[in-house]
Amino acid sequence: MDKIACSVNSFYERYPYPSLPIRNEHDLAGKLHANVMSKILSTAGLKPASLSGKDILDAGCGTGEKSCYFAYHGAKVTSLDMSCSSISKAKKLAQKFDLIVEFNRCDIIDFKTEIKFDHIFSLGVLHHTNDPYGRFRVLADLCKPGGTITIGLYNRYGRFLHRAKRMWIKLNAGEDIDRRMSFVENSIYGGKFRNIHEQAYAADKYANPYESYHSVIEVIDWFNKNEISYIGSFPHTDIGIFRSFLTQLKWFKSRNGFFILSGRKN
Ligand SMILES: C[S@@+](CC[C@H](N)C(=O)[O-])C[C@H]1O[C@@H](n2cnc3c(N)ncnc32)[C@H](O)[C@@H]1O
Repeated sequence: MDKIACSVNSFYERYPYPSLPIRNEHDLAGKLHANVMSKILSTAGLKPASLSGKDILDAGCGTGEKSCYFAYHGAKVTSLDMSCSSISKAKKLAQKFDLIVEFNRCDIIDFKTEIKFDHIFSLGVLHHTNDPYGRFRVLADLCKPGGTITIGLYNRYGRFLHRAKRMWIKLNAGEDIDRRMSFVENSIYGGKFRNIHEQAYAADKYANPYESYHSVIEVIDWFNKNEISYIGSFPHTDIGIFRSFLTQLKWFKSRNGFFILSGRKN
């Protein structure tokens, strides 16, 4: 494991993400769909009903909510993540709903399989690695011709103000994750996280040891180099160097600077 993977991994062992409260089918299929999945699927022109029977890879699945959502809708799901504690929570979630998901504990860069996938998702993962494009290429190679790949990353412009906040936290609490978390809990969350999800969310947002920042054009370039045609994005962006730059400037005020881009393998 490289140095970044080591520190990111020990962080997610401690704070598995997103640790959502999924208590029943309504939470898994209804709430998760309305809050998150509808936006993610729409970038690739997908609907829940179109997932049935499809081979899906969830690369960097975290605590497995999205993997379970795909399996709930009848997809054959393969998931991977570096973090043992995240995979263990993800397995429990799948068991709770009697869903079949094949979980693998590994780095994306080391993942080997004979399967080629109809749909690949990697949301909030590549920007926590030392070589996002290298790992993107691994995923692009695993996509069937005609299949889709959906990537979620922090945006170079949209994350700007947030970066200033992270710097302020670092100045006050230093590098140590525990000190950062107690600083965040006291200064931003009024002294107490309300639940485990809020704690996981705050950790990921404010105390993550490593994150990198990317632009729409950069990801379009990754797509082009791997024979992938752009399909859609969330938030909406115009494609083209100048127009996408203007769109990204509007993301300057966004809450977390996260953007999702989908493409289809030629
Ligand atoms: C912010 S969480 C995202 C989880 C999930 N994709 C979601 O959207 O809820 C990032 C996840 O990526 C995993 N991860 C980070 N680097 C990885 C790598 N190189 N290979 C596999 N998983 C990785 C972490 O362990 C963590 O669970």
